[in-house]
Amino acid sequence: MRIGIIGIGVVGREVINILEEQGQKIEKLFSEKVEVVKICNRSPKEGLDSYEMTHDYKVLLEDNSIDTIIELVGGIEIPYDIAKKTLEAGKNFITANKYLLAIHGKELFVLATENNSKLFYEAAVGGGIPVLSPLKEGLFPNEITRVRGILNGTSNYILTEMDGGATFSEALEGATIKGYAEADPTFDIEGIDTAHKISLLSYLAFGKFIDFNEIEIEGITKLTIEDIKNAKEQEAKYKLIGEAKLEGDKISLSVKPTLISSSELLYGVDGVYNAVEIDGTYTGKTILYGEGAGGSATASAVISDLYKVIASKNWN
Ligand SMILES: NC(=O)c1ccc[n+]([C@@H]2O[C@H](COP(=O)([O-])OP(=O)(O)OC[C@H]3O[C@@H](n4cnc5c(N)ncnc54)[C@H](OP(=O)(O)O)[C@@H]3O)[C@@H](O)[C@H]2O)c1
Repeated sequence: MRIGIIGIGVVGREVINILEEQGQKIEKLFSEKVEVVKICNRSPKEGLDSYEMTHDYKVLLEDNSIDTIIELVGGIEIPYDIAKKTLEAGKNFITANKYLLAIHGKELFVLATENNSKLFYEAAVGGGIPVLSPLKEGLFPNEITRVRGILNGTSNYILTEMDGGATFSEALEGATIKGYAEADPTFDIEGIDTAHKISLLSYLAFGKFIDFNEIEIEGITKLTIEDIKNAKEQEAKYKLIGEAKLEGDKISLSVKPTLISSSELLYGVDGVYNAVEIDGTYTGKTILYGEGAGGSATASAVISDLYKVIASKNWN
């Protein structure tokens, strides 16, 4: 496997670290050599002298010796260009970018199929929590009737802090200081990031992309301390829940603050943790819980996609 990595930031750097630390183990599992042929970052990065580094991502796209591109840039325009060109060239594309896939996923999955390439995105939903393999393989005999989850660590941290007595702005400030919230936290607190993720989970569960504009989205900004107190009196907590459900032939997607009672497993998912709850016809409820973000957890999911490229001949 000959890899090119574009975007050497928080996640990209950790991907390189894990490939270095676990190289032998990975090559044994893959039964082939795994080589990082070139890496690309917009600005210079230190400590990567042993790699062939460029600042122009097109150099990697034009290198026909690379068979797999890992995109860890973020945003949408450049990742879209990278994804299209990679898949059109019949190469494998791995990304952690939920925004890209929620908006352009429908087209990109068709491109992958048409060009016999693989497109994997384990890190795009739930960071380090593995959801693609459980949904595609572990639970495959089931009809999935609902997938829902706490999918955004920043908003869950804010709600947890509010449950402990903080105001919304105090909790947001805390999230920013601890590095959980972006400089512009709009996507997190307005539910848009959760909507990107539930859109992908819905595609995985039901095999169909729902137009992003059809998702009913409400963030956590309107919740007051009174709401939180009232919830507590009912032994419940507000959680920002992304939900995709199948009723008859209809798939509906929503993101909204939802009262979760103390008898439900999602009640105990606090702070920056994420959880995905899957309702299957044979299994009942399955819950996956873990770190929804962070460089190393997310990079672990990215590397697991490299294995899927090799192992999952029938996916996409
Ligand atoms: N961090 C997490 O916990 C997490 C969790 C799940 C998913 N993700 C997803 O993973 C992706 C990467 O996130 P991140 O946290 O690693 O972001 P990041 O730390 O901001 O890293 C992005 C890197 O991409 C580089 N870059 C930007 N534009 C570029 C271009 N045109 N060409 C080449 N390189 C370019 C940036 O370079 P500069 O150094 O010049 O800025 C930066 O080093 C995003 O899609 C994000 O949503 C992240």
